[in-house]
Amino acid sequence: METCILEPTKKNILKAVEVLNSNGVIGMPTETVYGLAAVGYDSKAVKKIFEIKGRPADNPLIAHVHKDFDLSLLVHIENSYAYSLIKSFMPGPLTLVFKSKGVVCKEAVAGGDTLAIRMPMHKDCQNLLKEINKPLVAPSANLSKHTSPVTAMHVKNDLDGKISIILDGGKCSGGIESTVLDVTGPVPRILRAGLITKEMIESVVGACEIAMHKEGDKVKSPGVKYTHYKPKCDTALFTEDNLEELVKVYNNYVENGKTPYVMCKNSVAKKLGNLNFLLLGETEEEVAFNLYDSLLLGEKKADVILAVAMPNEKGVNMGIMNRLKKSCGVV
Ligand code: TXA
Ligand code: MG
Repeated sequence: METCILEPTKKNILKAVEVLNSNGVIGMPTETVYGLAAVGYDSKAVKKIFEIKGRPADNPLIAHVHKDFDLSLLVHIENSYAYSLIKSFMPGPLTLVFKSKGVVCKEAVAGGDTLAIRMPMHKDCQNLLKEINKPLVAPSANLSKHTSPVTAMHVKNDLDGKISIILDGGKCSGGIESTVLDVTGPVPRILRAGLITKEMIESVVGACEIAMHKEGDKVKSPGVKYTHYKPKCDTALFTEDNLEELVKVYNNYVENGKTPYVMCKNSVAKKLGNLNFLLLGETEEEVAFNLYDSLLLGEKKADVILAVAMPNEKGVNMGIMNRLKKSCGVV
């Protein structure tokens, strides 16, 4: 099958809707990362998502809906604080996990009794969701374990020949996946950190927990137990107070005829002098925006990416560090 990257014109959105309504799967833009979408009621199409990605069947998918979609058609909203979160952060890069009403097919929720819902704010994604008027379940549009795609070309590089259409909505403005928040309990719990931070959630609903995954625990968000986000080259992670060690390792690679790249914030690069760099910008938002693009550029140019950790794990840095550690195989 030929994979076409299409501008998100009205005509092409109708083409995508036609594919989706005939048990098909497409690549779609969102403001976080690109998704691999199918109609959430369609078991046959949803199974294709798992096949195409090589995704374990026990890892559930997020249902994406239009901003005017009535969530109560799909889930039970049991806690009133969830309404405040919806009002404050949706549409946007927040996914809420509710008790499911069982309308979305069981393959999509991996047989579980909860459903994760997100309202992307990306304009072209909203247009697609409006036109189809059904929930689209979508994981990130990468092969399982690989770095998530933030451009249509990244999707094509991973899934060429496996899907017919990728709608090109430009480079994702957010750059890391949505915050996944369990709202089935008395206090919301972050299952995956992202651009909607713990601090932002607390400012709206007072309290917010972070799910900790200890060995032997029942995993609440199955995705977090898999290795993830790995570029195809080697990776290593250094802290900002260990730059001497980083330079030693860098020089060692060079002496062995290899090409290392240092992935770090601009201000850290200034301290390091004249090396190969993948620059992440300076603010948390810039780093999130550049992170996957840099990893995917790095795997093309470098034998090894030597990444420098963020100075803390607060705010958006919590989500950034979660991805960075996994892509460097640290956790
Ligand atoms: O930003 C995003 O969330 C992107 C875009 C495409 O929307 N999607 C995305 O999907 O990152 P995926 O499948 O790569 O990651 C979804 C995460 C996984 O960790 C999965 O285990 C978790 O959400 N998840 C999905 N449904 C869940 C549920 N019912 N309960 C708990 N965790 C769930
Ligand atoms: Mg993913």
